[in-house]
Amino acid sequence: MKISVIGAGNVGSTTALRLAQDGLGSILLVDVVKGLACGKAMDMEDARSLLKLNYSIEGTDDFSTIKDSDIVVTTAGLPRKPGMTREELLAKNAAILKDVSLKVKEFAPRAVYIIVTNPLDVMTNYALKVTGFNPKKILGMGVSLDAARFANLISKELNVPVTDIEAAVIGSHGEGMLPLPRFSTIKGISLEEFADENKVKDLIAKTINRGAEIVGLLGSGSAYYAPSAAIAALVKAVAKDEKRIIGICARLNGEYGIKDTCIGVPCRIGKAGIEGIVELQLSSEELKSLTVSADNVRKLTQQLPG
Ligand code: NAI
Ligand code: 2OP
Repeated sequence: MKISVIGAGNVGSTTALRLAQDGLGSILLVDVVKGLACGKAMDMEDARSLLKLNYSIEGTDDFSTIKDSDIVVTTAGLPRKPGMTREELLAKNAAILKDVSLKVKEFAPRAVYIIVTNPLDVMTNYALKVTGFNPKKILGMGVSLDAARFANLISKELNVPVTDIEAAVIGSHGEGMLPLPRFSTIKGISLEEFADENKVKDLIAKTINRGAEIVGLLGSGSAYYAPSAAIAALVKAVAKDEKRIIGICARLNGEYGIKDTCIGVPCRIGKAGIEGIVELQLSSEELKSLTVSADNVRKLTQQLPG
C-alpha cells in the first residue's frame, strides 16, 4: 500500500509519522519547499532503530513520485492565524488545493483522495470540481476531528472514560458544525440521559470553539496532534477495508434532501472510499442547519475559478 501525504508542515508530518508507525504502508511525504519533506522523512527514518519498527518513509519535492499511490492525503495550505476564520483562508488555499489536486489527477488518478486543507468543506467540494473524480473517492476530514473533541469534552465534564463514548458531529468543519447530543452515547445510552440541557449546550459551544481556542493559545499555527490522529483513523479505514462508520465531508446526492455539494455526514468507509452514506433522522431544526451549511459550501465553491 502506497500512501502519499502532501504538505510536510505540522499536520502532514505528524500524520506521516503516525501512518508509518501504524504500519499502514510505504509513506511518501511531499512539500513544495525544497528539502523540507526530505529532511523530515530522514529524521523519521532515523527513529526506526530506536522504535524497533521497520517502516518505510521517504520525502520529496517531486510530485511525480506520488505515481500509483493507493491513498493521497492533502494537508498543503496555510493554517488559521489567531482571530482568522477558516473561510478567510479560502482564496489562498483554493489556489494551492487546485494545484495539488491537478497533480493528484495527473499522477495518482486511482487513489482515494483525502482532503484536510481548510476551509475543509469548500476545499473538498472544490477538489471534486477540479479533478472530476468519482465522488466516492474524495473524503474530507473534519467532523471526525470535531467528534473526537466532543467526546473528550464529554469525558472530562462527566468523568467517564473517553473509550466508552461515541460522539456524533455533522455539518461543516467550521461555524456550521452540528454536534448531535441525541446521537452521542456513553456505553450506548444517549448523552441527554447524563447531562441536563444547559450542560449539553455548554459542551456543544466548547466543541464548536475548540479549534479556535487552540489557535488562540498556540499563537501561531493550528492544532495537529488530534487532526493527524483523525486522518490516520480515516486512512486505516480505507487501507484495511474496515467498513467503519466515520463522519466525513462527502458529496451528497439527495441524502438529507441535499444534492451536488459536500458536507459532513456519517459514512461507511472502506477500500473504495465512501461505500455508503448514513441518513440520520434529524429534527427539522437540525436539517435546516445542515441545509444552510451545504448551501454555503455550494455558493463559496461557485466563486472559485473552475
Ligand atoms: P503548515 O503551515 O504547518 O503546513 C502546510 C504545508 O503545506 C507547508 O509545509 C507548506 O510548504 C506546504 N505547501 C504549501 N503549498 C503547497 C503545495 N502547493 N504543494 C505542497 N505543499 C505545499 O500547516 P498545518 O498546520 O500543517 O495545516 C495544513 C492545513 O490543514 C491548513 O489549511 C489547516 O487549516 C488545515 N487543517 C485542517 C484540519 C481539519 O480538521 N480539516 C485540522 C488541522 C489543520
Ligand atoms: C482545527 O479545527 C484548524 O481546522 C483546524 O483545529
